[in-house]
Amino acid sequence: MAGFLAEPKTKKIAFSLSDVVSISDFSRADIEAVIEKASEMERLSSAKKAALLRGKTVASLFFEPSTRTRLSFETAIQNLGASVIGFADADVSSTKKGETLSDTIRIVSLYADIIVMRHYIEGAARLASEVSNKPIINAGDGANQHPTQTLLDLYTIKKAFGRIDGLTIGLLGDLKYGRTVHSLAMALSLFEHMKLAFISPEMLAMPEYIKDSIRGKVRFSEHTELSEVIAELDVLYVTRIQKERFPDPVDYEKVKKAYVIDKDAIKGAKPELKIMHPLPRVNELSFELDSTKHALYFEQAKNGVPVREALLVLLKDVRKW
Ligand code: NCD
Repeated sequence: MAGFLAEPKTKKIAFSLSDVVSISDFSRADIEAVIEKASEMERLSSAKKAALLRGKTVASLFFEPSTRTRLSFETAIQNLGASVIGFADADVSSTKKGETLSDTIRIVSLYADIIVMRHYIEGAARLASEVSNKPIINAGDGANQHPTQTLLDLYTIKKAFGRIDGLTIGLLGDLKYGRTVHSLAMALSLFEHMKLAFISPEMLAMPEYIKDSIRGKVRFSEHTELSEVIAELDVLYVTRIQKERFPDPVDYEKVKKAYVIDKDAIKGAKPELKIMHPLPRVNELSFELDSTKHALYFEQAKNGVPVREALLVLLKDVRKW
């Protein structure tokens, strides 16, 4: 009992990255370093945490809407004793006047020690990391990547199951435009004995470039019906159909009601099945599941804070800012 509430000793952790742009930059050791640091953050007193980034300035630049990602980052920044500058709406920034992204990033790099950014263009975070001398954290770039979401997803799975290796995980919904599932599939391919099931309408299947990047590393299968795999799953990761990324609204109308996950849809599932969702949900995940033992999505959203604290602290240690 004595050690249970004891504060963790700060261990040296092997984290090698100087920016967080794509999950493809991560090794398994990097992911494990984040998970370990996040767990340390959860056990650290608020006073000790508040000293970790005291006097630092973190820029939070959101060119696209966000609730959880931005607010959990900003909570993490405040918990670590740093101050936050930035915008939640690009229309109030000079982007509106025609300023290029690289100029915006160059200027913000003069004011902040690190930049967290979400942008609607794929590759925007990579570009930012090339023009900035400060660390960049990608909080989502178009339909491409959402590495910090993946890290909190992995942390949530690890907490719920005590492991990630050996699990069978279904990714369901918009696998074409959903950036969370792109990053997650790539990250899961770094673990052992995983089975992935991709469940989507044909029109929204996992892109070939993602499948190519995980082929040979992890077993995966593709389905249009959840009923084909529900009995095997340990985790069902549900995603929203990404309306805003469809070039043709007619196509969105065709698939917008493709899946509604409710009690009926998970009949035959293992009793231990956990349902995850990066949120926001629209109509693909029924409220009736919220009070069941399967629902892990609120816990998942809560884990955004310690995981983002961990990333900020690890990047500070690498870059010595
Ligand atoms: C996701 C995103 O922005 O990609 N949301 C999030 O960050 N939690 C998922 C989505 O918008 O559907």
